[in-house]
Amino acid sequence: MARLALIAAAVVLAFLAAAPVTEVAAKRWIVGDNKFWNPNINYTIWAQDKHFYLDDWLYFVYERNQYNVIEVNETNYISCNADNPIANWSRGSGRDVVHLNVTRHYYLISGSGGGCYGGMKLDVLVEKPPPPPIAAPIKNSARRAFSNFGFAHRFVIPVAVFTVIGTMWDAVLRFC
Ligand SMILES: *[C@@H]1O[C@H](CO)[C@@H](O)[C@H](O)[C@H]1NC(C)=O
Ligand SMILES: *[C@@H]1O[C@H](CO)[C@@H](O)[C@H](O)[C@H]1NC(C)=O
Ligand SMILES: *[C@@H]1O[C@H](CO)[C@@H](O)[C@H](O)[C@H]1NC(C)=O
Ligand SMILES: *[C@@H]1O[C@H](CO)[C@@H](O)[C@H](O)[C@H]1NC(C)=O
Repeated sequence: MARLALIAAAVVLAFLAAAPVTEVAAKRWIVGDNKFWNPNINYTIWAQDKHFYLDDWLYFVYERNQYNVIEVNETNYISCNADNPIANWSRGSGRDVVHLNVTRHYYLISGSGGGCYGGMKLDVLVEKPPPPPIAAPIKNSARRAFSNFGFAHRFVIPVAVFTVIGTMWDAVLRFC
């Protein structure tokens, strides 16, 4: 009986270890990398060698008293007009998360602080994720039984990581 439990545990561990390889993980993009969301950065260049897939996340870090994150349509993106927003992604802390949950263009600008005119404008085209690599044959019932792990891996873990990283940045920025 004990041996059976051990084997079961080994099978579960093997599955958990293999899962991140066979699933396409949602990615969290720090907009501007270590320069974050600031003027005088060309976000067209930042985005041009990247693929943004459905369910990825954009993470904006910026000076909350100066800038914001406003979603507009293409016309208003080109002209830096934030007067007719599609969405206001700013939550007031200078740490905003945009969940890319639709395959389309997202036109994001800073509507304040003259940020958009200074280059704070980002056009992201969200694509369907590529098919996952061919997984080792796992019986459908086993896959279903473990599908909750997929949820934790794609949603709960990224959210937990944002929270931790956001808190860490707040601590770091307070000392700068
Ligand atoms: C940003 O880079 C793109 C691609 O090289 C270029 O077309 C665009 O004019 C640049 N934008 C600014 C504001 O310099
Ligand atoms: C964007 O919205 C403006 C109104 O704010 C409208 O005049 C314009 O045609 C729209 N552009 C697109 C591409 O939908
Ligand atoms: C966006 O929403 C935030 C938080 O609710 C609010 O403080 C801010 O004024 C809004 N910005 C705009 C431009 O509507
Ligand atoms: C995508 O997210 C937005 C904002 O959170 C929400 O209003 C919308 O219903 C979502 N759309 C889909 C297809 O999940």
